[in-house]
Amino acid sequence: MKLTKIEQSFLDGKHGSGLKRAMEILAALGRIYGARDMVAVKSAQIAGISYKNIGDPGLEFLSDWANMEVRAHVPAFMNPSGIDRQLWRELGFPPEFAKKQLEIIEQLKRVGVRATLTCTPYHIGLQPEKGDHIAWSESSAVSYANSVIGARTNREGGPSALAAAFCGRTPRFGLHLHKNRLATHRIQVACSIDSSADFGLLGNMVGKKIGGGIPFFQGISLPNQTAQQTTCLKSLGAAMAASGAVALFHIEKKTPEATSYGERIVRADAHTIKINSLDEARKSLHSNGSELDLVTLGCPHASIDEISDIANLLKNKKLKKPLWIASCSIIREQARNKGFVEIIENAGGRVLADTCMVVAPLAEMGIKFIGTNSAKARSYLPSHQGIITYFGTTEQCIESALEGQWKH
Ligand code: F3S
Repeated sequence: MKLTKIEQSFLDGKHGSGLKRAMEILAALGRIYGARDMVAVKSAQIAGISYKNIGDPGLEFLSDWANMEVRAHVPAFMNPSGIDRQLWRELGFPPEFAKKQLEIIEQLKRVGVRATLTCTPYHIGLQPEKGDHIAWSESSAVSYANSVIGARTNREGGPSALAAAFCGRTPRFGLHLHKNRLATHRIQVACSIDSSADFGLLGNMVGKKIGGGIPFFQGISLPNQTAQQTTCLKSLGAAMAASGAVALFHIEKKTPEATSYGERIVRADAHTIKINSLDEARKSLHSNGSELDLVTLGCPHASIDEISDIANLLKNKKLKKPLWIASCSIIREQARNKGFVEIIENAGGRVLADTCMVVAPLAEMGIKFIGTNSAKARSYLPSHQGIITYFGTTEQCIESALEGQWKH
């Protein structure tokens, strides 16, 4: 792989052991994937930071970097952690877990990574531009950045995203190259897709069918309002990334590259798949029973508009089961200022920041039954935490929390 002078000097250790190690990771990846050179990145999003997932070895790995006194050279921000830094005591998170999680966040701060602790950084202004190269690692954020914004990122691992943040570059392969961004599958949708939960169902089905392919959707209409469009598109991308490994999708005449290139964004040998109904996904995501410990919304992390809609549904109501809405601290502050948090808390719900239902230690906290409107959370909660998970629309989730049992 061709390295510039400065990249070679990183690799030779002329700028310290931290940058040497970071460049070694990037150069090794570049060699494995046949990159010809590196490309400068505008930002890095670092996933894999929950103590639940990385444990003590992960904490040690991050402390090592911090001790090497290396710093992020481009804006770098954290994915959700395992706790809400403000509410963890009140919500009953285990203290030992919280202590370790706070240490992880501290180590990342030491190397210059911002504690945004969100998988939807684009909701708080951390939005790349079309064509920007970035190194993001949370799968739904990757999908959104590639597909909806038209930026270019591979699905980075936590360590490679960190290495990219330190070096300000990443090897140019995969989705950084236009030729690898062409659709491998044409998905003709012939049924109506009405809610963000429907987009999740569609994503779940398509991810299972195409694995790591790139779909080009036809026949989908998006809601008129931008905020609702965003919610639906992030739900679609998150679901496909969870049931398959889809990191980029196109929607005919809607997403940036489909608009710019038209039919030329589809490979000549693309397979065609017809979707006549969402029943297959509905069946596969169905769980029997109605017992409920918790209802969670906000996977991917909720926007201010989603929180506003939820507050509207909860006005003057009382929940029988806890309802948690996951977002980040900046959005929670906005929601507090607009009075949404008060409405939600008066009903008995909570707006959480810094964490989410999948990476928080919910099973350890005794939670066995969850309702959610996220196809991604529905895919992961049973396998990652052994939690029985019901899937439904936002309205269905709220109605169930109000009734105290899951409403099929
Ligand atoms: Fe985000 Fe957690 Fe869902 S990281 S996409 S809220 S699993």
